[in-house]
Amino acid sequence: MKEVGVGIIGATGAVGQRYISMLSRHPYFRIRKLMGGKSAGKRYSDSTSWIIEGDIPEEVADERIAEAKPESAKECELIFSAVPSEVAKEIEPKFASSGFFVVSEASAHRMHDDVPLMIPEVNSEHLALLKIQREKRRWKGGLVTTPNCTTTGLAMVLKPLHDVFQISKVVATTMQAVSGAGYQGVPSMAIIENVIPFIKGEEEKVVRETKKILGKMNYDSILQEDIKISVSCNRVSTLDGHLETVYLETKDSISVEGAKNALRSFSGLPQRDKFPTAPKRPIIVREEADRPQPRLDRLSGTVPGMSVVVGRVRKEEGNALQLTLLAHNTIRGAAGNAILTAELIAETGYLE
Ligand SMILES: NC(=O)c1ccc[n+]([C@@H]2O[C@H](COP(=O)([O-])OP(=O)(O)OC[C@H]3O[C@@H](n4cnc5c(N)ncnc54)[C@H](OP(=O)(O)O)[C@@H]3O)[C@@H](O)[C@H]2O)c1
Repeated sequence: MKEVGVGIIGATGAVGQRYISMLSRHPYFRIRKLMGGKSAGKRYSDSTSWIIEGDIPEEVADERIAEAKPESAKECELIFSAVPSEVAKEIEPKFASSGFFVVSEASAHRMHDDVPLMIPEVNSEHLALLKIQREKRRWKGGLVTTPNCTTTGLAMVLKPLHDVFQISKVVATTMQAVSGAGYQGVPSMAIIENVIPFIKGEEEKVVRETKKILGKMNYDSILQEDIKISVSCNRVSTLDGHLETVYLETKDSISVEGAKNALRSFSGLPQRDKFPTAPKRPIIVREEADRPQPRLDRLSGTVPGMSVVVGRVRKEEGNALQLTLLAHNTIRGAAGNAILTAELIAETGYLE
């Protein structure tokens, strides 16, 4: 694969920092431009409260952050965008119409009919929407989105179970880390020694995004999957890693061993074609009664943070099961999943 110049919009934020950390070790994506809002014009190391283990990678520490506009990104082909939704709504189409491929973390465009919402192991075929989008909008580039950090772990675990047992109903309760709300997100006085049983807009996003991701391509849009989904979202005082307890009912008979086998053997195009950011096993199943735990398990797997960890798989009355899952919200739930999506875009020839 040839080198691909990439730009990051929102480079100073919780997700932007993950991009920098992961892309500084990438075999063919090369960071060529950092862009931002308030930080534009400043040196990266002067304007960033670095919250990731280790130091700011040397190649970006002295970089000057540019204004987030297409003219700033001349040396880039691909743009990773990690900005608030209202900002994404305005600026991402400008980049896509100017010829850039944009991979967005924001919710602004996720549910548009012609915009793919990607988890590469789950719905790589949805990337075909990109062709339709470019024709319809007459864009030289394109816009691809990645899901909310809570949706990603849930949809990854539902996919193999749905393929084998046909899920009819899901009830999930989340315990979401503070980094999911961004660097300025939750005041420490509000969250220390506390649980906040409400995250604005989150439950609705998880429901509609999961149905789109699990849906089937229908010519020029996605037919949303017909599963009843109900979610309760809670903010808890962990730093990284969203834990979710999930109750599910299936149309076909389901057993604990059958479910574990489906989860363990799940893989997709990124594993088959050995994408650099693809973990060997997208889902890791643990047998201990008290796992997964955010602090112990969030960096599991061959690409740390890219595997979803499942435990406590147990049978319920009828065709029903309960389990607990853990997904690293800024890696699999954000930057890591977006980098894997960009690898899918690159490997399927869109950047040639
Ligand atoms: N945190 C997660 O786990 C997670 C997971 C999935 C998706 N997301 C989504 O990813 C996006 C970023 O989240 P985050 O957690 O990284 O938030 P954050 O820590 O608050 O960072 C926001 C970033 O947006 C930039 N920004 C704000 N206004 C801008 C503007 N007008 N032009 C250009 N850049 C601007 C900021 O740069 P300046 O400092 O230069 O203003 C900052 O780098 C959000 O849409 C969020 O919903 C987050």
